[in-house]
Amino acid sequence: MLETKFIRLATGIPGPVSQGLMARKEQLIADAFSIHVPVAIAEAQGALITDVDGNVFIDLAGGLGCMNVGHSHPEVVKAIQEAAAKFTHTDFSVVMYDSYLRLADRLVAMAPGAFPKKACFFNAGAEAVENAVKFARKFTGRRAIIALEGAFHGRTNLTMALTSKVKPYKEGFGPFAPEIYRVPAPYTYRRPEGMSEAEHITMCGDALERALVTMVAPSETAAIIVEPVQGEGGFVPLHPDYLKRVQAIARKHGILIIADEIQTGYGRTGTFFASEQLGLEPDLICVGKSIAAGLPLSGVIGRTEIMDAPGDSTIGGTYVGNPICCAAANAVLDVMEAEGLIARADEVGVVLRRRFAALAERLAATPGSRLHVGEVRGLGAMIGMEMVRDPGTREPAAAQVGQVMAKCISRGVIIVKCGIYGNVLRMLVPLMIPMDQLNEALDVVEQACSEVAEGR
Ligand SMILES: Cc1ncc(COP(=O)(O)O)c(C=O)c1O
Repeated sequence: MLETKFIRLATGIPGPVSQGLMARKEQLIADAFSIHVPVAIAEAQGALITDVDGNVFIDLAGGLGCMNVGHSHPEVVKAIQEAAAKFTHTDFSVVMYDSYLRLADRLVAMAPGAFPKKACFFNAGAEAVENAVKFARKFTGRRAIIALEGAFHGRTNLTMALTSKVKPYKEGFGPFAPEIYRVPAPYTYRRPEGMSEAEHITMCGDALERALVTMVAPSETAAIIVEPVQGEGGFVPLHPDYLKRVQAIARKHGILIIADEIQTGYGRTGTFFASEQLGLEPDLICVGKSIAAGLPLSGVIGRTEIMDAPGDSTIGGTYVGNPICCAAANAVLDVMEAEGLIARADEVGVVLRRRFAALAERLAATPGSRLHVGEVRGLGAMIGMEMVRDPGTREPAAAQVGQVMAKCISRGVIIVKCGIYGNVLRMLVPLMIPMDQLNEALDVVEQACSEVAEGR
């Protein structure tokens, strides 16, 4: 077993108190809410989570990408407490508040594109995507939306329709919202054999042009929605040349571009929005996840003329842009600035890439290895490691990834996966994580992968 400085295991995982709570969960909570790590949290600080049995975990999942500033950051906690003590809710459309305006002002200033912009806020990421579609449809007067293979945009009816991965997100939940058309995305690791990366990217651009002939008329297409790095789809960065082509096709036909930056935004990729480094100037951007350090808040930022198109009282919701969430979100931006967290994403990314490259070599050198690193990819700190049974056939190693994760969790590291085949270990670590904590967690991941590779 590895010597650990930060991970502290007081009991087996799960410990007795967590086991009791898990039993109650089984009894009381819908089974669809499966629990990934079978423990209950007592408290969290930075990148460390302490469970109810006193076990301390290093968190590489960051509440699924919501904790870029770290758990319970004192400045965020203070902002939440102060806001809650003043007022908790008015409905912004009944009585407004300054924290909402300040947040809009700051996000509009940071969004790419030298054109006037406006913003507005919602609760969940899916709601931001739903509303981006509403803005796009009203502005263009068109109904169709083009989405990519491998996309994930949420779990509401429209966002399920936009989402590509069938299981577990769509199977049995139809019928879905109509007027969604799907085109292939450049997933270069799994491109057809014999095809170069450049040819694959061209092929995907061609498929989009063809879809506007064979699937839906450009004059009826409101928007194309993209995640600059596909998150749930496997941490697949969309190549800048592909995005350039998408942008050119869209502009030619008056089709809007919606960038879903719910997972890629807030510095995760080394720039505040991933679009910035990919030469993308979206007409509408969706944000969520790390916006308010886990409090339910999301937003849409877009060209003023689009944001003003729907008209009086057409967009909204009772809780949207809640004042406590807005206060937290302003504190998050303050912390990101004060702690240089955008630059830090690149530093974290360098360590992740270096460690995963070493792991790839180690697994490749393991005689009869049952697990290999197929590809390490991503931007900034948004790094995924696609695991395969055999680097030649690229057979996805989904079962082995499950074993690796179980070993990691039982040894004090919280880790999550993604990918259309469920075989990509994905890093959504708080960006503030001290490097010695990150390295300790990666030691555990490396050991777990080696054991699975050796069949132990
Ligand atoms: C890219 C992307 N879009 C939309 C969503 C949906 O966000 P939410 O779960 O907050 O509705 C997610 C969540 O994982 C996401 O990663």
